[in-house]
Amino acid sequence: MTWLWYVLAAIVAVLLLYWTVVVTEGTYLGTRAVVMMYDWTARRYNSIKKVRPIYEMYFLGAPLSERLPAREPRVLDVATGTGRLPATLLDGAQHPAIVIGVDHSLAMLEEAVTALGSLDGQAVFVQGDAHRLMFKDNTFDAVTCLEALEFMRDPRAVVVEMMRVLKPGGSMLVTNRIGWEAWLFPGRYCRRGRLEALLSELGMQDIDTHRWQVYYDLIWAVKPDSGQSRDERGIDEA
Ligand SMILES: C[S@@+](CC[C@H](N)C(=O)[O-])C[C@H]1O[C@@H](n2cnc3c(N)ncnc32)[C@H](O)[C@@H]1O
Repeated sequence: MTWLWYVLAAIVAVLLLYWTVVVTEGTYLGTRAVVMMYDWTARRYNSIKKVRPIYEMYFLGAPLSERLPAREPRVLDVATGTGRLPATLLDGAQHPAIVIGVDHSLAMLEEAVTALGSLDGQAVFVQGDAHRLMFKDNTFDAVTCLEALEFMRDPRAVVVEMMRVLKPGGSMLVTNRIGWEAWLFPGRYCRRGRLEALLSELGMQDIDTHRWQVYYDLIWAVKPDSGQSRDERGIDEA
């Protein structure tokens, strides 16, 4: 019967390896492991994701544009990857925005620069860690982070950093992992209601969850304002 134990142990080891490397993409091995995974897959990332510009515009670009002030809006996209958010935002921009995309993976950023580098200073990409954003407090009109929080070493710290650099009254957009896969990320703010609870605990307002994909919800939230009206901040009333 000893051989049976060996077989069982081998199956468990393979499953554990699959969960660690493929399913959670190195999340529980630390930031370096996650970044290494994305460095490896950067060239294939866009073809794996197969994003459709029309859906990107409907769910991301257009609603984000509506939340931005008319005058020189500045947007930060944390864990920007290959520049998905900057691409849709600038595609539909009614007024010129400046979007800064931060990511830890140089290979992902190289793909973003190849795709959007021609936008003449409107899309800027910098390498950095989402846990320590290199920007002053209250800098951006909107801060976004798509499909990435669950891979971070300390998602709460990342959300706190995103809040810090967001202007009062500015909008935050984050995604929350849902569906059965969310159960494979223990200890993370996955599953419906968890990320919303964190945002509320941190003092964010107008928290609004939208269904988006099978495995992700979109969550919008607003940083408490100092009392300025939307008009004073240059945002058109719908
Ligand atoms: C699934 S991709 C999402 C990319 C993009 N937001 C999108 O929706 O296509 C996750 C991204 O998070 C980045 N990332 C992971 N940990 C990071 C960290 N600590 N700081 C900055 N970026 C990080 C990875 O390099 C990768 O580009």
